[in-house]
Amino acid sequence: METRESLIEVEKLTKHFKVGKNQVLHAVDGISFTIHKGEALGLVGESGCGKSTVGRTLLQLYHPTSGEIKFEGKKLKIDHSSDDAKQYRREVQMIFQDPYSSLNPRMTVLEIVSEGLLIHQPNMSKEERRENVIELLELVGLNRNHANRYPHEFSGGQRQRIGIARALAVQPKFIVADEPIAALDVSIQAQIVNLLKKLQKEKELTYLFIAHDLSMVKHISDRIAVMYLGQIMELAESEELYSQPLHPYTAALLSAIPLPDPNLERKRERIILTGDVPNPINPPSGCRFRTRCPQAMDICSQKEPIWKEVQPNHFVACHLYQNSELVKKETLLTKG
Ligand SMILES: Nc1ncnc2c1ncn2[C@@H]1O[C@H](COP(=O)(O)OP(=O)(O)OP(=O)(O)O)[C@@H](O)[C@H]1O
Ligand code: SF4
Ligand SMILES: [Mg+2]
Repeated sequence: METRESLIEVEKLTKHFKVGKNQVLHAVDGISFTIHKGEALGLVGESGCGKSTVGRTLLQLYHPTSGEIKFEGKKLKIDHSSDDAKQYRREVQMIFQDPYSSLNPRMTVLEIVSEGLLIHQPNMSKEERRENVIELLELVGLNRNHANRYPHEFSGGQRQRIGIARALAVQPKFIVADEPIAALDVSIQAQIVNLLKKLQKEKELTYLFIAHDLSMVKHISDRIAVMYLGQIMELAESEELYSQPLHPYTAALLSAIPLPDPNLERKRERIILTGDVPNPINPPSGCRFRTRCPQAMDICSQKEPIWKEVQPNHFVACHLYQNSELVKKETLLTKG
């Protein structure tokens, strides 16, 4: 039985963009998943597969083409001027990939971090706001002397800390971290991941943590969703996804991560995916991964695989698993 409380429920979410002359780009195409309260859900996939579009749609920066998003059990409405929408904009925040372009170069750190407070807590005095910002800077590993400086005076890692302080200022419940470490030096990446983990615990935050490859999300994600060409192919607990990947795409992504043990690394089989990712304007029929899948069968071009829970809390969309029967605990209980 599912006992974890959900913060966000996504049902058949689709986001299409009109491009060129009457063409439709299928950026996100009918995905369903849940984000539990207090968890970090990793979202992984190659460039252009729709990760940022998912994040932006969840934050209502894009209107979904179809489908439904529920936050704390309540369906999100399109009306941006309502009080609910204003509250939602406070409760959900984003941390961006590029700590260089995402901070306004003409604003001081104090101004950047207090912007959200000005909007959402307009009655706060200037002094209170300043104290609040200084507390936040200290929380993310900066200090009060940084408040009056400008973004160009900071390193990439420090700028990302400013971006994190800005996101935290309005006390959000949910944060979309869109490749927050991809632009940073490898040596700094672990520091930022550790900071995000620490903040998650202290502030009881829920994260959608977006990354290109599986190695980057491993240390932060409780569960991981693997995306390909606008759809989620597999979703499972991180440990299970690493140790027992079911979808051929996940298996290929995992096989590309070098193993630390050189002996194991030499023996290990690498799954090389051939061909390019197809154009999202005209995705392949049936299973979208079939043009690159080493295990593709006839049915894969004819029928779209159903998104299915094939083991408890392990979802996959692939014809290799369509007939496996999941015996759920609650079924056993009701029968017993
Ligand atoms: N505003 C837009 N208008 C038209 N097409 C868009 C728009 N935003 C994204 N797309 C397209 O939608 C698809 C998904 O883009 P998205 O940015 O969500 O991918 P991504 O997985 O975040 O990629 P990356 O890893 O490179 O950041 C891409 O084909 C992209 O070109
Ligand atoms: S449905 Fe077919 S093509 Fe798609 S991943 Fe599974 S085996 Fe490969
Ligand atoms: Mg992106």
